[in-house]
Amino acid sequence: MQYKRILLKLSGEALMGERQYGIDPKRLKEYAQEIKQVVDRNIQVAIVIGGGNIFRGVAGASNGMDRVQGDHMGMLATCINGLALQSALEDEGVHTRLQTAIEIKEIAEPYIKRRANRHLEKGRVVIFGGGTGNPYFTTDTAAVLRAIEINADAILKGTRVDGIYNADPEKDKDAIKYNNISFKDVIEKGLKVMDMTAFTLSEENKLPIIVFDMNTNGNLLKLVSGEQIGTIVDN
Ligand code: GTP
Repeated sequence: MQYKRILLKLSGEALMGERQYGIDPKRLKEYAQEIKQVVDRNIQVAIVIGGGNIFRGVAGASNGMDRVQGDHMGMLATCINGLALQSALEDEGVHTRLQTAIEIKEIAEPYIKRRANRHLEKGRVVIFGGGTGNPYFTTDTAAVLRAIEINADAILKGTRVDGIYNADPEKDKDAIKYNNISFKDVIEKGLKVMDMTAFTLSEENKLPIIVFDMNTNGNLLKLVSGEQIGTIVDN
């Protein structure tokens, strides 16, 4: 296996499947099954999930809502998604723990790095909810932060496109996909991988980012097995 410990970043929107809002149980189950495949190969898996399928702080702010208030709602949305994913994983027989950056201790454990590490060592999937626990930060930043804290080998950003292209592949049919690209080239070419806060944190800490298509069955397992899937951003 190429990786021993990964941090998987999933977007909240991805959980919508074909829906316009909320959680599609079919998609949730598919993700749980994909994750189980790698857990069964003894890969340690931590997960950060977004909340955009329920609420986006930035969208709230653009409609006149206080940004901090909106971001707090978004953090709670990630906890809802975390609970849903936890349930779906447990249905597949995967042991999990949900840890949140904001305390809701009747519902989930508070985030404690050392405890997260122990859970991972014991083969439990650890889902980190609540983003970084601060407004103005994205769940991509939370994902990079947690990945660095737990010494993950890489951050795997599951998306609906199969990697990083030199143009938007959904708009430009001549767009060319990179298999490998450096942090420096991503910035120089103005490509969008993550927001700058998340991206810089990853670069400074030499944490490789892999962007891949999470909606294709078996991709996650292929990726951790060392197959060329998606685009890897590293030094
Ligand atoms: P080990 O120490 O490795 O056995 O880990 P563990 O997570 O099983 O230990 P613990 O006995 O602390 O936790 C038992 C269960 O309670 C697990 O499902 C935890 O997720 C849950 N748990 C632990 N702390 C909290 C908390 O603060 N809030 C909530 N809601 N659940 C908690």
